[in-house]
Amino acid sequence: MSAFESTTTAIPETGEVPRHVAIIMDGNGRWAKKRFLPRVAGHRRGVEAVREVVKACAARGVECLTLFAFSSENWRRPSEEVTFLMQLFLKALEQEVDKLHRNGIRFRVIGDLSPFDPVIVEHIRRGEALTAANPGLTLTVAANYGGRWDILQAANRCREESPGEPITEERLASRLALDYAPEPDLFIRTGGEERISNFLLWQLAYTELYFTPVLWPDFGAAALDEAIASYRSRERRFGRTSEQLQAALPQPRVG
Ligand code: IPE
Ligand code: IPE
Ligand code: MG
Repeated sequence: MSAFESTTTAIPETGEVPRHVAIIMDGNGRWAKKRFLPRVAGHRRGVEAVREVVKACAARGVECLTLFAFSSENWRRPSEEVTFLMQLFLKALEQEVDKLHRNGIRFRVIGDLSPFDPVIVEHIRRGEALTAANPGLTLTVAANYGGRWDILQAANRCREESPGEPITEERLASRLALDYAPEPDLFIRTGGEERISNFLLWQLAYTELYFTPVLWPDFGAAALDEAIASYRSRERRFGRTSEQLQAALPQPRVG
């Protein structure tokens, strides 16, 4: 069973700070192009933005941060770029995991890791094991992740574990790759495109969506605060009416 309530079957408690922020880190290539640099220079700068945003989320009390690093469709890119991204991922794992651990951050990776170099997978597993008991922010990197892949693998697991039993929302959700996190409260996509690109299809059912033209290498603590400010201004109704929400608010005393 999933540890968290589903936004379609229960109404979650919401606060001033989103518990779970999910980000599509887009715009690295365009950031580089604007500077007449190769696309990969944008990816390199993107790692610095990741560092800053992880720190800022931890400082603001966000519980879970999920970052889309490589989609199941990104294999379609030129092979030199894919190779560079894999090397960059390995380098980041080598350099950052111990730092994450020292800062009390729990590190996880979601996605189909089967096509990855075993050295990368080994670093991922080591990092996950090292940081598993940490109490701080849960940082999840989505690598070779696709929302459709996730739903299908969860459905297949349901079928294998109890063949013939109907698949319920609860059973499916508890087999999704992010079974350890509540559904995202805030989704951010940088880089100006306004699409989901096969990210967390199931979990975004009631997430507040925020799109910014800021390119990922330029995104940092200030831009994150703008996104959180926008989130705070939203009325999350989960299917109810605005009047119902107003009626549930504590009434000011008269006299
Ligand atoms: C996002 O930046 C990083 C990955 C998808 C790995 P892009 O590389 O997609 O940058 P743009 O969209 O081409 O600017
Ligand atoms: C989405 O960005 C995936 C990641 C940021 C990892 P893309 O740049 O691949 O998305 P599309 O192709 O523009 O939809
Ligand atoms: Mg892109």
